[in-house]
Amino acid sequence: MMTTSLDMQTLTTCVQTAALAPSLHNSQPWRFQIDGGTVEVFADRGRQLEVLDPSGRELLISVGAAVFTLRLAIGMQARTPQVIIFPDPARPELVARIRTSQVTTPSVQVRDLAAVISSRHTNRRPFMNAVVPADVMEQLCAAAAHEGATLTQAGAVTRDAIVGLAQTAEARLRAHGGYRAELGQWTQPRPHRRDGIPPTAYGPWDALEHLPLRDFGLVHPYPQRTAARFEAHPTIAVLATEGDTPAAWVRAGQALQRVLLTATRHHLATTPISQPVEIPAVRDLLTDPATGRTAQMIIRLGYAAPAAATPRRPLTDILESGQP
Ligand SMILES: Cc1cc2nc3c(=O)[nH]c(=O)nc-3n(C[C@H](O)[C@H](O)[C@H](O)COP(=O)(O)O)c2cc1C
Repeated sequence: MMTTSLDMQTLTTCVQTAALAPSLHNSQPWRFQIDGGTVEVFADRGRQLEVLDPSGRELLISVGAAVFTLRLAIGMQARTPQVIIFPDPARPELVARIRTSQVTTPSVQVRDLAAVISSRHTNRRPFMNAVVPADVMEQLCAAAAHEGATLTQAGAVTRDAIVGLAQTAEARLRAHGGYRAELGQWTQPRPHRRDGIPPTAYGPWDALEHLPLRDFGLVHPYPQRTAARFEAHPTIAVLATEGDTPAAWVRAGQALQRVLLTATRHHLATTPISQPVEIPAVRDLLTDPATGRTAQMIIRLGYAAPAAATPRRPLTDILESGQP
């Protein structure tokens, strides 16, 4: 087997690609370090949302999504990434160590998913009243399974229950003063801001408040925002993992990004929805007692006008090179 590690410049480009991953409130809670042909991915606890995400579960889902994207970027450089999750128990902030020496030819799957990394955006617009074809849904479920998670499309009854639970969750969150303050911090428009959610990504206001969409315009509304009618019967799927440990959260993040990119490749719009899983009592209702699988994320899927990209922090903020 041929082995040659990737050089610093190539790995720097891979890190830049990895940073296009989705993250809670676009917090981008990651840091990278390149050392020889190895990349280490760290959780940046300074960017954790203390009110919404006290356990750091969504932070690690976000970092997991970046790890998956990094794997694809390395795959595109004709290497099989060798990934160890939490390689050093004494350093829990070190989420992944990835070696890049094993030479390979990028598979069709890697090429297909890598091709849509920069066109995947969270879409908060109304989706068309069109059904997601069964074979596409099967591929999304297979994408989650490939990463050791499960994706289950909610049937009509479960979907309505989830919408109801999400509305309850959203109402409870909004009533929490800390929630509004935190949301305000991550949606405060500032010139040249490179993180958080800009008004261009809020999407229109759901006039009937029927869908479980997070209202990013709650604290800093903007006058041009229009109201719209959203789809009456959203397609919703639940991403779940066996276990609910930090390693399971990283796994969920990798699965989330694999599902989102597979969906993008099939021209589907996607919205990760996390309010129902942010309130423990509501989350318990989404956990299947028969399998013990824990819900990690709800994903809304459908067809819609394209959404705009959100900003990313500069490489100098997220990348360190050599020994710390
Ligand atoms: C763990 C996690 C939770 C998220 N929760 C929500 C959510 O509840 N509602 C929502 O509209 N977007 C949610 N998102 C999407 C992020 O807001 C989005 O990824 C981020 O703003 C960056 O934008 P992009 O996905 O368009 O690149 C979530 C993403 C992650 C990774």
